[in-house]
Amino acid sequence: MIYLDNAATTIYKPEPVIQAVVQAMRTMGNAGRGGHEVSLEASRTIYKTRKKLAELFGAEQPEQVAFTANSTESLNIAIKGTLSPGDHVITTVMEHNSVLRPLYDMEREGIELTILPLKNGLVLPEDFKPHIKKNTKAVVCTHASNLTGNMMDIKGVGKVCQEQGLLFLVDASQTAGVFPIHMKDMGIDILCFTGHKSLMGPQGIGGICVRKGIEIRPLLTGGSGIHTFSKIHPQKMPEALEAGTLNSHGIAGLLAALEWQEQTGRDKLREQELVLTKRLYGGLAGIPGVTIYGNFDEKVRAPIVAMNLKERDSSDIMDELGIRYGIMARAGGHCAPLYHEALGTREQGAVRFSISWQNTEEEIEHTIEAVKELAEEG
Ligand code: ALA
Repeated sequence: MIYLDNAATTIYKPEPVIQAVVQAMRTMGNAGRGGHEVSLEASRTIYKTRKKLAELFGAEQPEQVAFTANSTESLNIAIKGTLSPGDHVITTVMEHNSVLRPLYDMEREGIELTILPLKNGLVLPEDFKPHIKKNTKAVVCTHASNLTGNMMDIKGVGKVCQEQGLLFLVDASQTAGVFPIHMKDMGIDILCFTGHKSLMGPQGIGGICVRKGIEIRPLLTGGSGIHTFSKIHPQKMPEALEAGTLNSHGIAGLLAALEWQEQTGRDKLREQELVLTKRLYGGLAGIPGVTIYGNFDEKVRAPIVAMNLKERDSSDIMDELGIRYGIMARAGGHCAPLYHEALGTREQGAVRFSISWQNTEEEIEHTIEAVKELAEEG
């Protein structure tokens, strides 16, 4: 099997991640809900993970990191917990439905939405400026597209937001882990991430990092382990955004993934992925009948190559790659409706290959050969 669907989830987790989850399932109680050893064991692991994430993402302190199930939950919390009717928000066509659908929900509640189109395959920081109005409250955008791998200049957009006093919400689903992200340096107010993609942790664990001073109305309220007799859910981070039992088993796996990445070297992992991405792009681009999407002049990009073969349905190509060659890619719309519409691929979809550090040159060559064969067959 050649697994090239790492933008959906990475499946070859480092062995210490698997071991940490197994160990946690044997030893961890409910964090923050008891003073006994197994509860404390979970609390300690959770705090250690918060601390590592705060360091990795340049959050002010560990308490500013709250755990969620995934980016979708984090983005719902960020968008629905900060916007109110009458607010104007700017986003882009590059977004995933995890950004768009909460925004559409809020549009029905009375927010105003501007969606920036692509220019030469990209959205640049200066593109935001002409759309800023008196009631503009926030910019919400992805760090890297899950469809083409093209990236936003987050630091540039952050600067625009800071100059104009706008909240800046970033979806780091495709970049958290191996791409440098620093909330303070990049002017990010709220960072949403998931643990199971390039962070290489288990599924079901993600998070939200919130700059100090930003108030978010929680989506969920309930047990928090503190202020039991208050009718109001605690407003301080991280409890404010963590109602109910935390996924300490997933968090233990995420901690192991963070430690593993630290030891291995994130720059090394990223460079390895980008070398393979470049080769895949180069190999596919030379095949007659192949169309590749996205702007490949950009040197910094997420390790993704999306393509189509002639007019053929992307799902058929995906099936043939899987059945005949053992290559696993993702076809269809990738939950990125506006980007597909902008590319003119609403009906056809696209075949997306997404690479991780564990893919090899041989796998990439095999994939290029497979597409070549399919192209020759017509
Ligand atoms: N958002 C994930 C993807 O792009 C699931 O495949």
